[in-house]
Amino acid sequence: MEYTNLARADSMVFDRSRKKEPLNGLWNYAIDQYDHFLEAKCYLEKATDRNGFSLPLDYSFDEWPLMSLPVCWNLYEKELKLYDGSMVFTRKFEYIPKNENERVILKIGAANYLARVYLNKEFVGTHLGGSTPFYFDITELIDRRNRLIIQVDSTRRETQVPTLATDWFNYGGVYRDIEIFRVPNTYIKDFKIALEPNTSFEKIRASVTISDKTNGTALLSIDELGIKQDITVRDGYGEILFDAKPSLWSPENPKLYSVTVSYGTDEVTDKVGFREIKVDGMDIVLNGESIFLRGVCAHEESVKNGKALTDEERIENIMLAKELGCNFMRVAHYPHSERMAQLADELGIMLWEEIPVYWHIAFKNEDTYADAENQLAELIKRDYNRASVIIWSVGNENPDTDERYEFMGRLVDFAHAADKTRPVSAACLVFHNAIADRLEKHLDIIGVNEYIGWYSPNFALLSEFFENSKPTKPVIITEFGADALSNHRGTVTDKSTEDFQEYFYERQTALFPSVPYLKGTCPWILYDFRCPRRMHYLQNYYNTKGLLSADKTHRKLAFYVMQKFYKGMKK
Ligand code: GCU
Repeated sequence: MEYTNLARADSMVFDRSRKKEPLNGLWNYAIDQYDHFLEAKCYLEKATDRNGFSLPLDYSFDEWPLMSLPVCWNLYEKELKLYDGSMVFTRKFEYIPKNENERVILKIGAANYLARVYLNKEFVGTHLGGSTPFYFDITELIDRRNRLIIQVDSTRRETQVPTLATDWFNYGGVYRDIEIFRVPNTYIKDFKIALEPNTSFEKIRASVTISDKTNGTALLSIDELGIKQDITVRDGYGEILFDAKPSLWSPENPKLYSVTVSYGTDEVTDKVGFREIKVDGMDIVLNGESIFLRGVCAHEESVKNGKALTDEERIENIMLAKELGCNFMRVAHYPHSERMAQLADELGIMLWEEIPVYWHIAFKNEDTYADAENQLAELIKRDYNRASVIIWSVGNENPDTDERYEFMGRLVDFAHAADKTRPVSAACLVFHNAIADRLEKHLDIIGVNEYIGWYSPNFALLSEFFENSKPTKPVIITEFGADALSNHRGTVTDKSTEDFQEYFYERQTALFPSVPYLKGTCPWILYDFRCPRRMHYLQNYYNTKGLLSADKTHRKLAFYVMQKFYKGMKK
């Protein structure tokens, strides 16, 4: 399928601290099962015959019903609950120019999966990928009075990333903020800053990319550190390595500095934590100290809002993870909102962020690779300055085939080239009851999902699994877990009871301390989540491996086993 004018990572505009003009709120919408909108070019708002006479239209805009965006439409009304397909959203808005030569950028925080944008009867562009932000420069198309249209297609396709089968609900919608912001004619398009690894925490590297190939000087300042640095810009790019002794960011000390960079009439500010994360032999090392990642996995979802989480819900999830005793969260299996990493920076918890190269995707398809690589590029660009993000993951539970090995090896290489300050990992499958996925050769940290005692029921295999495995890099168990319906009680042999889940966690956590190469654990999962594959009557279309119920009001018995294990470790 050909897509024109694709918004990609290089279309992104650094927007933190920029004054946003939200376009959230009530939009008219229509369910478009047959993609009539595309076929009839409805965005033109007219159709004429060969003699120029107007033809009847099979659509209208302002008379359509209203939906409040951002939204996952599946939760908006009953008839949309299981709808996978195309939806057309439209609204009008006014724009009054403020400065001569200003440029106007449209940002859509995320739309699942394929989005096409139209402004004032003109096609603006397309975005592929359901979890990353995309930007369009609409300066030439915007007027005083505007009609904006977003056509979103949530159809799952074999060549997409993720592909047809996933173990989570495929919410459709424009489910993160829609906004415009203004920039000067020449503006700061990207700004990266991080503590430089292996410099005894005494050097910071910053780079600035300008919207066009100008020459000049950018000014970077970190007032609290008494730092003011000129950055020479040549052909639109400048980079600097300078001395600094910041208080180091950590979950225990989530110290953030206000960093400002200006160029010409443009100025942006970010709130940045400075820390070093690296692998040293068999250790994961934060600011020079070997750490154990006391983690938990989480999907981006809530009963009420689907993927369109509120900040209150994100903060609740982080605080629940902290209550569990966590210093780490695996936000699976796709990029969560940028707000998650910003809040993690502020509240002090480390994150594993991931692209949805999940299970059996079309590893032979070059377009699929381009989509996956672009989603990775957009994620890295979006969250590069986030101290809380310590690991990039290129996928989850993929079959160990030659095509997959080549595809994901390329993604690992891409991540390493794009970001020299973070380790790269993936959540691998168990093969022959050992850690034995050849992709591990490319990874800095080995993630492994093991469900010994659940999907492979014989618990005796667990100690064998740990003994069989001879990894040469640090290992994080990126998933282990068992289903349990809240308040469903029985004996430790009754699967799907809280009693079995509690016993499962006791058996698992009893062995972890004896595994020298184990440097992190992430139970699957913090709370139950919607999943169309889970059709057992005790699941009722939910994956019930949560340590809490889906609405997060009930802590299952296993929650306390995991909490005790982590609290014991902290001591
Ligand atoms: C897999 C997968 C998860 C899934 C889990 C499960 O490991 O990575 O996405 O939900 O197992 O089976 O519950």
